[in-house]
Amino acid sequence: MSPAPPPSLRTLGIVGAGRVGLAIARRAVAAGLDVGVAARRPPEEMRAVIEAGAPGASSISVADAARRDAVLLALPLGKIASLDAALFAGALVIDASNHWWEIDGRLPQFEDLTTSTSEQVGRHLAGARIVKSLNHVGAYVLEELHAPPGDPARIAVAVAGDGADDVDAVAGLVDALGYDPVVAGSLAEGMRFEPGTELFGAEGDAAEARAMLDRFWDSQRGRVVARARAAL
Ligand SMILES: NC(=O)c1ccc[n+]([C@@H]2O[C@H](COP(=O)([O-])OP(=O)(O)OC[C@H]3O[C@@H](n4cnc5c(N)ncnc54)[C@H](OP(=O)(O)O)[C@@H]3O)[C@@H](O)[C@H]2O)c1
Repeated sequence: MSPAPPPSLRTLGIVGAGRVGLAIARRAVAAGLDVGVAARRPPEEMRAVIEAGAPGASSISVADAARRDAVLLALPLGKIASLDAALFAGALVIDASNHWWEIDGRLPQFEDLTTSTSEQVGRHLAGARIVKSLNHVGAYVLEELHAPPGDPARIAVAVAGDGADDVDAVAGLVDALGYDPVVAGSLAEGMRFEPGTELFGAEGDAAEARAMLDRFWDSQRGRVVARARAAL
């Protein structure tokens, strides 16, 4: 069995009731968290979808999701700008979104290689405490490959953020959901598990994930990022 969620993170709000939002909602319910899911439409319209898609989770508003111990962003990156930043002031926000051009199309505002997309999310949600995680593994894989600690099949999930306590809490959540957390560093370092990196879409264990993160600066994408940063 995976460990219990950390005491500071027993209630989870999820914004986005699609593939990854509902997959993580199901894992979080199984892990014993009190889970509420919000989406674009109001809670009363979403209730049946959420009750069917994540039994045990409740249908809540975005405002209520933002008031939970942590709130996971599981909506398209390009839609985050439509969220009311005031609702998220002070909140621990787990950013699972990606500039995933194959799915969502290219969003030029997120093509700046000198900054991670989660830092840009943080600039919109100013006042929120942003931790990037649960973005680089597919929803189906998250659902199928959870395992208890020590199980050789346990996959790793990277975590990056600027607040040590917040990173610890999210790492504890990742562990409780059934994955080995691998801390990648500051929010800027979240760039090392964005789309286009070796770790994005990989199903490695913790040692493999760490090695992929470490190899980033020697990768073609890492060299392009380094060149862009050097030109600042
Ligand atoms: N799919 C994966 O395997 C996976 C894995 C890891 C991370 N991610 C990332 O997670 C995010 C969501 O991906 P997904 O595949 O789950 O997408 P999806 O299946 O299309 O679901 C997106 C959800 O976000 C909701 N939404 C859209 N705009 C919203 C808004 N303004 N306010 C509140 N909710 C809104 C949608 O509601 P409506 O249907 O009403 O528009 C829908 O419930 C993306 O950034 C993706 O890169 C995906």
